[in-house]
Amino acid sequence: MNARIAGAAHHYIDKESRFGARNYQPVPVVVDHALDCLVWDVEGREYIDMMGAYSAVSHGHLHPRIVAAAHRQLQRVAITSRAYQGTTLGPFLEKLCRIAGFERALPMNTGAEAVETAIKCARRWGYRAKGIAEGQARIMVACGNFHGRTTAIVGFSSDADYRDGFGPFAPGFMHFDFGDMASVRAATSVNTCAVIVEPIQGEAGIVLPPAGFFTQLREWCTRNDILLIIDEVQAGLGRTGRWFAFEHEGIRPDALILGKALGGGLLPVSAFLADDRVMSVFTPGSHGSTFGGNALAAAVALEALVVMEEENLVARSAAMGTHLLARLRDVMRASGGLIRDVRGRGLWVGVDVEPAHAAARELVERMATRGVLSKETHETVIRFAPPLTISRALIDRAIDIFSAVVVEKSAQLGLAAGPPDPRIKLAACSSPPPN
Ligand SMILES: Cc1ncc(COP(=O)(O)O)c(C=O)c1O
Repeated sequence: MNARIAGAAHHYIDKESRFGARNYQPVPVVVDHALDCLVWDVEGREYIDMMGAYSAVSHGHLHPRIVAAAHRQLQRVAITSRAYQGTTLGPFLEKLCRIAGFERALPMNTGAEAVETAIKCARRWGYRAKGIAEGQARIMVACGNFHGRTTAIVGFSSDADYRDGFGPFAPGFMHFDFGDMASVRAATSVNTCAVIVEPIQGEAGIVLPPAGFFTQLREWCTRNDILLIIDEVQAGLGRTGRWFAFEHEGIRPDALILGKALGGGLLPVSAFLADDRVMSVFTPGSHGSTFGGNALAAAVALEALVVMEEENLVARSAAMGTHLLARLRDVMRASGGLIRDVRGRGLWVGVDVEPAHAAARELVERMATRGVLSKETHETVIRFAPPLTISRALIDRAIDIFSAVVVEKSAQLGLAAGPPDPRIKLAACSSPPPN
């Protein structure tokens, strides 16, 4: 990869690495501009965006209607803080509540802030509605979870790297194995006020729970007076081929966390949604954010929802996702064992690389040199999560390139094409953190 980083790209890469903290290890592609599903680097090379900024660019880059909505609002007012009311927040919240089927929404900026909002809401509900003794509320979270990067959130990560050196952490979180009801039952106590869980574990490697898990979890929460709070920051808003991933099992959570795509690919916009019986624990002064729900963000997010609806992006994600999954399974079958699993839903697919043969990162970098952007998660999984606007032809172009990369690497390793390895891995919790 380094050999091709020339001229202008070097300039920017050097500045980022000289002045930026070393908390990222980006693929060395210096993006200059982008439109819909295409991205161009500073040297004019074109790439297909199969990554979609971790679901934040679900509408494609710079969607013209969302950009126009931003421009319109930028000629009126952008930031007022929540000290005053405005003309865009109410319509945005109304639209969001109607689409998601909740009575109220609380706007924040990043996904992690919306998760923090959920934690505060769940605990207060536990004390005030469920009658848990002050200071004793427990929240159940899944092993392999990813909910953001604040100290409270990394404190209940089961991934040692996310926690290492950042303690002491907030207590009150109990772990269960994702997809395993016996483990949920064992982690439950009379002090459990909520479960906060992703419907599909994204950062863990696009891990799907066994069919029926969420139905059983829903029943368990109802029976034990526990709030089921689903974090759809990455999975929500069409990514899995439904508006919300929880719809795949026909359940309804007690509260929902959204982010990423809510900002229409322009701004960070997140939200926590619940019905009055839960949301009413928030009283003036008990929670807030200077930027959350600002006039510009609300205008952009409202248009993002309208575009998603009017351009049928959810149905499109389902149809294109079926095609993407089928194409990637073909690549796996021809990989001679280099690819050991392909799994996903809608336009969200994880390709699991056999670590004995190659690191996911190597294949990601090889793809980038040929004009396809993707990203590894952990060492073994390549994620494909293109904008929901992607065409079948563009998917085919990207997967043809991925296929060529896989065939080339398999040949280099002397692997013969054979039947795929059907192993499906769930994120195991080898050493749950001691909370
Ligand atoms: C499920 C989930 N929740 C929360 C977050 C945190 O979002 P943000 O990075 O906007 O804080 C992420 C980010 O990837 C996520 O995937």
